[in-house]
This record gives sequence, structure tokens and C-alpha cells, in this order.
Amino acid sequence: MKTLITTASAVAALFMAQASLSADDIAPEARLAAQHVAVMTCATCHGPQGRSIVPKFPALAGQHSKYLAAQLQAFKAQTRGDPDALGYMWGMAAPLNDEMIAALAAYYGAQSPGGGSAGDAGAIARGADIYANGVAAEGIPPCVACHGPGAVGTDEYPRLAGQHAQYLLKQLRSFQNNMRNVAVMHGVAQDLKANEMEAVATYLQSLR
Ligand code: HEC
Ligand code: HEC
Repeated sequence: MKTLITTASAVAALFMAQASLSADDIAPEARLAAQHVAVMTCATCHGPQGRSIVPKFPALAGQHSKYLAAQLQAFKAQTRGDPDALGYMWGMAAPLNDEMIAALAAYYGAQSPGGGSAGDAGAIARGADIYANGVAAEGIPPCVACHGPGAVGTDEYPRLAGQHAQYLLKQLRSFQNNMRNVAVMHGVAQDLKANEMEAVATYLQSLR
């Protein structure tokens, strides 16, 4: 009997982790527990409601919950392997069970994103062009094809709008050198030049 119950709740947890959950789909106790963890622990780096002000720490507010849950599972499984992921997030994610991961993801997904911040106008214009059109001569696809107009993302692709440029830039480098090993973004980033990465990151940070 115990095994049956364990299996049923494991299946339920798996379903929850995979489904894209709004805050309304999470049990009230799980929601409260996640809020407590977010405020007491995660806020130290990611800021209240996930609106981080430190450029090394990604903003989580308004990010798609399915993406957030997948990243927390990847830190926990130690498959997102950049040195900062290892140093900061493997330990944070290790004790989180599937229900807590789903509830934290729903919590941040339901927050309104913080504003973007201005940057060098030339870099923003160059970045906007790369985002919309890619760099055909270098085989770089338009980012908009996946991350969507305004870089607000979809259920399948993360929101990039308003994210810290420093964080975005580091992720692009990590995709390029496969420390963050994701085939689709390695393909996108492998031939991006440093100045192109900087331009597109500056552009994305400027969006609201
Ligand atoms: C001590 C600082 C610190 C704390 C505390 C912390 N994080 Fe993080 N978090 C980071 C850093 C740094 C990164 C970026 C890692 C990288 O560069 O790969 C990150 C990345 C993430 C990401 C990936 C975001 C993205 O856009 O891909 C998620 C999700 C996340 N953290 C959730 C949490 C949650 C939930 C908690 C609380 C349980 C938490 N973090 C606590 C520092 C922290
Ligand atoms: C074919 C679809 C596709 C295209 C085109 C694409 N991306 Fe992505 N991108 C993804 C996926 C999928 C992820 C999530 C990877 C993961 O699961 O860790 C992602 C993740 C990212 C991240 C990490 C976000 C975070 O919060 O950590 C950045 C930064 C990024 N993409 C930038 C870009 C830029 C810049 C371009 C254009 C030069 C681009 N992407 C084009 C699919 C795409």
C-alpha cells in the first residue's frame, strides 16, 4: 500500500513538474511553503519577488514557470554545469522536492517582471538587429524565432526581456563552450562573436 501511495504521489509530482502551472494550480500549503523559501532563502540573491538588482544573479520574476522548474531540476540533477551554477545553485536545489520546485516556479512565474535598464544606444540598435534577423553571413538564426517578439518568451522558451546583460552574456559564453550543455543554444551561440553577444545582451536588458 505504501508503495502504491508513493508511486501515485511521484507520478503526480512528475506531472506537476512538467505541466506549466499557474499559481492557482498549486495546493495552498505548497504555495505558502514556497513563498517562505523564496523570501527567506532565494531573496538573498534573487531579490524580493525575484526582481534581482545584482547583475550576476538572474531576475526570476515573470519567467515562465515551466522553464524555471526545468532549470531547478537541472541544478538538482547537476546537469547545468557552469561554475556559477555549481557554486551557487547545486546546493540550493539539492533539498528541493518536485512539489517545492513546481511551487517555487509558479511563485516566480506569477510575479510581474522588473523594468529593463538603458544602455549604449549603438549596442542596443545592433543587438535589436541580431535579435530580429540573426547574422545570416555567420549562420546565426534570429533569436525572435524562438524567444518571441519583445523577448517575452513562450511556454517552451525563456523570457529574456529585462534580464541583466551580465548574466545573459555569461550564459551565451557558457552555451558556446558547452559548460551549460544545451544543444539548441550551443548551435545558436557557437559562432557568435564577443561584440555580438554584448550587443544582443545590452538590447535584451533594455527591454521591459
Ligand atoms: C547565494 C546566491 C543564490 C541563492 C541564495 C539562490 N540562487 Fe538561484 N542563482 C544564483 C546564481 C549565481 C545563478 C546563475 C547561475 C549561472 O550563472 O549559471 C542562479 C540561477 C537560478 C535560476 C536559473 C535562472 C535562469 O534564468 O535560467 C533559478 C531558476 C534559480 N536560480 C532559482 C533559485 C531558487 C528557487 C532559490 C532558492 C531556493 C535560489 N535560486 C537561491 C544564485 C543564488
Ligand atoms: C531554436 C530556438 C532558439 C533560438 C533561435 C534561440 N534560442 Fe535562446 N534558448 C532556447 C532554449 C530552448 C533555451 C533554454 C535552454 C535550457 O533549457 O537551458 C534558450 C535559452 C537562452 C538563454 C538563457 C536564458 C536564461 O535565463 O538563462 C539565453 C541568454 C538565450 N537563449 C539567448 C538567445 C539569443 C541571444 C539568441 C539569438 C542569437 C537565441 N537565444 C536564439 C532556444 C533558442
